[in-house]
Amino acid sequence: MIRFIQTDDVLALRNEVLREGRLTLDECRFPNDDAEGTFHLGYYDNDQLVCVASFHPQNYKEYTGKAYQLRGMATRESHRGKGIGNQLVNFAIVYMRGQKVNYVWCNARKKAIRFYQNLGFEVISAEFEVPGIGPHHVLYLKIQ
Ligand SMILES: CC(C)(COP(=O)(O)OP(=O)(O)OC[C@H]1O[C@@H](n2cnc3c(N)ncnc32)[C@H](O)[C@@H]1OP(=O)(O)O)[C@@H](O)C(=O)NCCC(=O)NCCS
Repeated sequence: MIRFIQTDDVLALRNEVLREGRLTLDECRFPNDDAEGTFHLGYYDNDQLVCVASFHPQNYKEYTGKAYQLRGMATRESHRGKGIGNQLVNFAIVYMRGQKVNYVWCNARKKAIRFYQNLGFEVISAEFEVPGIGPHHVLYLKIQ
């Protein structure tokens, strides 16, 4: 079941999946986690939170329109490859379409690019390195 959740709810899974559990929960916060318009989604398997994603109002460079940046996309290892991440992002896309959002984008790890392409995202940047994490591309999805 997919639910809108709070910043504090996403931090433990962010840390476990995206930071190998090395940080404190506070270090896993993004600056605009609590900004107006930001929303966080969680997928619950019974009562266990197994997938999270956060969406912040943010344009990409000179791209215009109403935009969101997707950050903190993480599925617990035991639950990957079952379509849960895909369902969560599709839920967000339907919600953002209702909010008249024009596009969503993200900085995607190279390893996750096919996941985003399955959702309709396209690569719009050259490869760049995020220190300590690895190679990335910018991925973009037009919503309307
Ligand atoms: C990237 C990530 C979020 C994807 O989450 P997920 O819940 O496993 O995503 P899905 O199950 O929807 O899709 C993953 C794969 O499962 C496959 N899949 C989708 N539905 C499926 C189903 N019903 N049954 C089996 N496999 C399925 C997809 O084809 C996809 O394959 P691909 O990515 O190799 O093309 C997850 O792997 C993860 O947390 N990785 C570590 C952190 C990370 O890299 N985050 C992204 C940072 S940019």
